[in-house]
Amino acid sequence: MNFVAASMLSCDFSELGYEIYRAVQAGSDYIHLDVMDGAFVPNITFGAPVIKCVSASRRAPFDVHLMIEHPERYVEDFRNAGADIITVHAEATNHLDRLLHQIKATGAKAGVAINPGTPLTAVEEVLPVADLLLLMTVNPGFGGQSYIDSVTDKIRRAADVRRRRGLEFLIEVDGGINAETGRKAAGAGADILVAGSYLFRSEDLGIAVNSLKF
Ligand code: DX5
Ligand code: ZN
Repeated sequence: MNFVAASMLSCDFSELGYEIYRAVQAGSDYIHLDVMDGAFVPNITFGAPVIKCVSASRRAPFDVHLMIEHPERYVEDFRNAGADIITVHAEATNHLDRLLHQIKATGAKAGVAINPGTPLTAVEEVLPVADLLLLMTVNPGFGGQSYIDSVTDKIRRAADVRRRRGLEFLIEVDGGINAETGRKAAGAGADILVAGSYLFRSEDLGIAVNSLKF
C-alpha cells in the first residue's frame, strides 16, 4: 500500500498546530510542508521558524519541500527546526550531489524534486544518494492546480530505473492529487501521494485520506 502525505498549504494557517494534529489523526503518514521563497516559485509561504513552532509535538514525519533558490543555504536551519525529510529541487542548485550529501550529514533523509518540464535524466546520477524522488505533477507554487497527465509516464519510468538499478528511493508525487489521479500515480509506481486541497476541502478528512490508499 502507498503512503499519504498531507500538504498543509491548504489548511487553516491560523490553527497550523491543530491542523497537523487533525491530519495525523485522519491517517496521514507524513506531514508535507511547502516552503516557497517568491523567487524559485511565485509564491511565498513560511520558513524554518514556523516549522520549529509546530515540530516539537509531531506524531508523523515532517516532509519539508523546499521550493527555494539555493537551498544549500538553509539545510541545517530546516533540520534544526524538525525536518525529517528535506527535499530540494534539482533546478534550484548548481551542486546537487553535494547538496544531497549535505542533507544526509544533518541526519535528515534527502529528497530530490523535479518540475514537470524537467527530464528524469537530470537526476539519474544522484538517485543512488537520494532517499526520495519527488516528481511534481503540477508546476510548483500553488495548491489547487490540475494534475499534469504526462507525468504518469515519468513515474513509471522512475519506478523502472529503480528496479533495474536495484535502488531504494521512495517515489513521491505532488500536485493535483485526488482519488482519481492518486490511483493513476500509485498504479504507475508512486509510494507517497501528497495531497493538499483534496484533503482540506473535503467534508471528512479521514475518509479523504483513506480514499488515497491503494
Ligand atoms: C505545490 C505544492 C504542493 C501543493 C499541492 O507547489 O508543492 O504540495 O500543496 O496542493 P494540491 O494537492 O492542492 O495540488
Ligand atoms: Zn509540495
